[in-house]
Amino acid sequence: MHTALCDRLGIEFPIFAFTHCRDVVAAVSQAGGFGVLGAVGFSPEQLEVECRWIDEHVGDKPYGVDLVIPQKYEGMGEEDPKKLEEQLQKMIPLRHREFAAKLLADHGVPELPPDQKHHSLLGWTAATATPQLDVALKHAKVKLIANALGTPPKDVIDRVHSSGRLVAALCGRVHQAVRHKEAGVDIVIAQGTEGGGHTGEIGSMVLWPQIIAAVAPTPVLAAGGIAKGTQIAAALAMGAEGVWTGSLWLTVEEADAEPAQIDSYLHATSEDTVRSRSWTGKPCRMLKNDWTEAWEGEDAPKPLGMPLQGMVTMEAVARTSRYAGSGQAQRVAFNPVGQVVGMMKDVRSCREVILELAQEYVDAVERLQALTPG
Ligand SMILES: Cc1cc2nc3c(=O)[nH]c(=O)nc-3n(C[C@H](O)[C@H](O)[C@H](O)COP(=O)(O)O)c2cc1C
Repeated sequence: MHTALCDRLGIEFPIFAFTHCRDVVAAVSQAGGFGVLGAVGFSPEQLEVECRWIDEHVGDKPYGVDLVIPQKYEGMGEEDPKKLEEQLQKMIPLRHREFAAKLLADHGVPELPPDQKHHSLLGWTAATATPQLDVALKHAKVKLIANALGTPPKDVIDRVHSSGRLVAALCGRVHQAVRHKEAGVDIVIAQGTEGGGHTGEIGSMVLWPQIIAAVAPTPVLAAGGIAKGTQIAAALAMGAEGVWTGSLWLTVEEADAEPAQIDSYLHATSEDTVRSRSWTGKPCRMLKNDWTEAWEGEDAPKPLGMPLQGMVTMEAVARTSRYAGSGQAQRVAFNPVGQVVGMMKDVRSCREVILELAQEYVDAVERLQALTPG
């Protein structure tokens, strides 16, 4: 499973693991893969704490940090996070806030204690992601900066490159991959529709080879729907230089998640996900539940754009997470995950998952070799 990217990053397996959980980042990198910390939910101060913790627990292994600077979003151009937040708050209709509040109340999800202030504006803008980048670049073991939902701005690419690191960017369409390459992105992450989180409409099996051909020789990581080493073999057979996974790490031993949420994932089938704009404003794959259905209803307001819808729903994320086990909180909780959720049936350590992926990969390669005469 050794590709050129393994040498460039100093890793054993080209298995990239996206996660919001620092324990998973450290454990995956320690096991020979490449852990990537999603920064979107962290303030710059908290991100500093997380990176420092990973530095202390990852040994001499590298890891990455993932930002979200979308190609388009409301309030684009405003670079002061405080002013941007004030400007955006005024754009949110009362009807959206009331609709979200009623859904929570109807499902018996308690209010937050008055002193529990939740984030209002996540790192879903250039203004909020830039301070996160400043933090990430202070940590020597961070060897890769990834960006979701758009081509990273030129100054971000330049800063990462001049610090001697690599830039990766996700995409779900061929033209986006070409735009990444033309902007100077080092690694293109091609994510098929089956993936968890924000995702496009084209299936991995169809998307990966098109993007690999369109951006060659730029390395491509195959993403969306990977839970088995046999799928890694398929991706590498198509010319990918590695795989980028996300859902798989939601139910590992090291994952920091509410038991009720892990339970929802472990009991779901591949038919239980939906692409919905109801949490973030952009199509995102998650478990279907009363929340996703309600926002599709005839009486529902149309979800706002990013980051406005996220500002409407942020309190719901905080309340359903804090009170995950009470009332019917899981029926209105945000459970982003891909179709591979139907293959996630037990809780194992990151090391066990990585070793099993490697073993399944070897089995697949041997199976193919046995089919090749001579
Ligand atoms: C819970 C969850 C949250 C995600 N959040 C982000 C994110 O903040 N930034 C990002 O680049 N990708 C995010 N993704 C997408 C992953 O990076 C990855 O591309 C995707 O999970 C791959 O498909 P898979 O889920 O089938 O493995 C998220 C995925 C999940 C499951």
